[in-house]
Amino acid sequence: MSKFIVFEGIDGSGKSTLSKNVFQLFVSRNIPAELFREPTNYETGLRLREFLQGKIHLNPEEQLKLFISDRRASVTRNIQPSLNQGKIVLLDRYYYSTAAYQASEQNSPQDILDLNLKENFPIPYKIFFLNINPESAMKRIQFNRSEIDVFENLEKLTSIRNNYLSILPDSAIFLDAMKSEEELLRDVLDSLEMH
Ligand code: TYD
Repeated sequence: MSKFIVFEGIDGSGKSTLSKNVFQLFVSRNIPAELFREPTNYETGLRLREFLQGKIHLNPEEQLKLFISDRRASVTRNIQPSLNQGKIVLLDRYYYSTAAYQASEQNSPQDILDLNLKENFPIPYKIFFLNINPESAMKRIQFNRSEIDVFENLEKLTSIRNNYLSILPDSAIFLDAMKSEEELLRDVLDSLEMH
């Protein structure tokens, strides 16, 4: 069985918290697992974070190229080695994020997904989508953060969410992001048939 589990959602949906909670639970049960995120902490990922903080400008085409090259680093340096060791890999954002966030007039979400699929990146076993309406996500972001990323405004979050809905496979598991941390953790374990 492939053990590759991906968490997706718009900014403010709480996917980083949920993926950390799932990871900690695996650790507490001595289940071999790794938690990674994209953008990575490698050179490509650091450059992407500069872009996300508004420190450098990248047009949609440049963003797309850099997110895909960062994903190559993510796959070859993080994901694949851990899967080869038989570990469960939990990943906070994957190519569905690129499809949802880098879509532009030139490239539809589906075009971007297809570009990623052509790279032969590993296919996730489960995709969890933290579903939240953009207004609630925006409130959380304004309440929690000192720094606001370039994508964090209501109009952008709304179109990003619509992009996600247009490309997520039917097998994606929608979680209600307004639930408590405990309930969400239980929902994930139920879906993984772990109790
Ligand atoms: P996020 O995952 O929310 O992490 P943090 O807690 O560091 O804010 O932020 C990553 C940002 O990167 C988010 O705004 C979405 C964006 N992103 C893309 O635009 N395309 C991608 O392919 C990925 C992986 C992320």
